[in-house]
Amino acid sequence: MSSTHHGRRATAVALAALAALGLGSSVLADDGVSAATDASRRVTEGFRIAPVPLDLKGLDRTLVGLGSYIVNAQGGCNDCHTNPPYAPGGDPFDGGPIRINKKGYLAGGTDFGNGVVSANLTPDAKGLPEGNTYREFLSAIRTGHDPDDGHILQVMPWPVYRNMTDHDLRAVYEYLRAIPSRGKHE
Ligand code: HEC
Repeated sequence: MSSTHHGRRATAVALAALAALGLGSSVLADDGVSAATDASRRVTEGFRIAPVPLDLKGLDRTLVGLGSYIVNAQGGCNDCHTNPPYAPGGDPFDGGPIRINKKGYLAGGTDFGNGVVSANLTPDAKGLPEGNTYREFLSAIRTGHDPDDGHILQVMPWPVYRNMTDHDLRAVYEYLRAIPSRGKHE
């Protein structure tokens, strides 16, 4: 066999292997489900794990489900925006079963010292989460500046959340529109 022939065959084998790899990583998730199936599982899972009843009136159901998945399975928003995060006897760090503080869910009020208090993320009387329009919310997460007075949001992990896609942030906002309104909005 000439070396050119051998070289061509090696290239063909390498290309086939690359194509297979590409297929494996971009289309199929680890457990063999397609990306589309995984996306719809996130929505279903989001509804399953939402700790409070959701009002879907006028909202995009798929976005709400995805938003719940991001907030409750990935974002950890409850840790800082619910005070305290867990109901009495439901704190996993005490070894008990997990029960989220539904009454205070995402209503803010956790004091981090130096005047830094987590915001109430629930919808206000007009149905706007933390009193912000989507544009204001997006700008707050992307730039880290408070939509009201422009100060740089402290403690809040916006330097990480700002890396989410517009679609994911839109989903988080849609979910925050669906949760029960709680407490005062400043
Ligand atoms: C480590 C704690 C922490 C986590 C986790 C966290 N936040 Fe915050 N967040 C804060 C604090 C504290 C503030 C108020 C900061 C300030 O005023 O300087 C805040 C402010 C905000 C604001 C600005 C509200 C406004 O109009 O002033 C938004 C929006 C927000 N958080 C959304 C979220 C969302 C959505 C998540 C989850 C994806 C999340 N936060 C997770 C601590 C946190």
